[in-house]
Amino acid sequence: MFLNKVDMLKKDWFDALQAIWEEGERQDAVATERSRKNLFITPDTGRFLYQLVRSKNPAQVLEIGTSNGYSTLWLALALRDQPGLITSLDILAAKQAQASANLERFGLAGKVSLELTDAGDWLRAAPDASIDLVFLDADRSRYAEYWPDLQRVLRKGGLIVVDNVLSHADECAEFIGQVLATNGYLAETYPIGKGQFVIVKD
Ligand SMILES: C[S@@+](CC[C@H](N)C(=O)[O-])C[C@H]1O[C@@H](n2cnc3c(N)ncnc32)[C@H](O)[C@@H]1O
Repeated sequence: MFLNKVDMLKKDWFDALQAIWEEGERQDAVATERSRKNLFITPDTGRFLYQLVRSKNPAQVLEIGTSNGYSTLWLALALRDQPGLITSLDILAAKQAQASANLERFGLAGKVSLELTDAGDWLRAAPDASIDLVFLDADRSRYAEYWPDLQRVLRKGGLIVVDNVLSHADECAEFIGQVLATNGYLAETYPIGKGQFVIVKD
């Protein structure tokens, strides 16, 4: 990866992001319990999310699955000079605390509301048409259950990006089938990182 001459990201930010990712991968290689793993998106997925958010300029972003905030940092960096805000959900307090520290370090804490809550509960309580972009990277066995509320909370023209659809194709198959069978959405899988399923609400 080279830095673009137009300085898309300041080099110190890029270096810090890369260091967080590499340390996360080192920890995951030796962690035995799943709940202790970071399970970060890949750096190319981070750049993809940055491009989507920077160009779409969403007012409200929802991330489901914060972990230590690596993907959250990419989303927040893309909105650093924009009014848009991010809500990021996780159920593990220890991970959320690390995400909070990472966002503080980048001066991005004000862009993100970190919420310690189950995504299903949060989605059920969310207002209609309140979200412009969703990044879904949590418990894949629940995605099919989320689909009715995801449709309800997403604004027209809104995007949903789902990670891991190629790395865990079997686990995502029911959700993908459901989306493809729903009128009013256009969806496609892209071979970026672990596989990104991108859905736009027409
Ligand atoms: C793959 S990790 C997220 C990685 C993160 N997006 C990144 O790339 O930096 C999945 C996260 O989802 C969280 N999670 C699992 N089930 C959840 C649920 N029902 N509601 C909210 N978060 C959940 C886990 O605790 C875990 O931290």
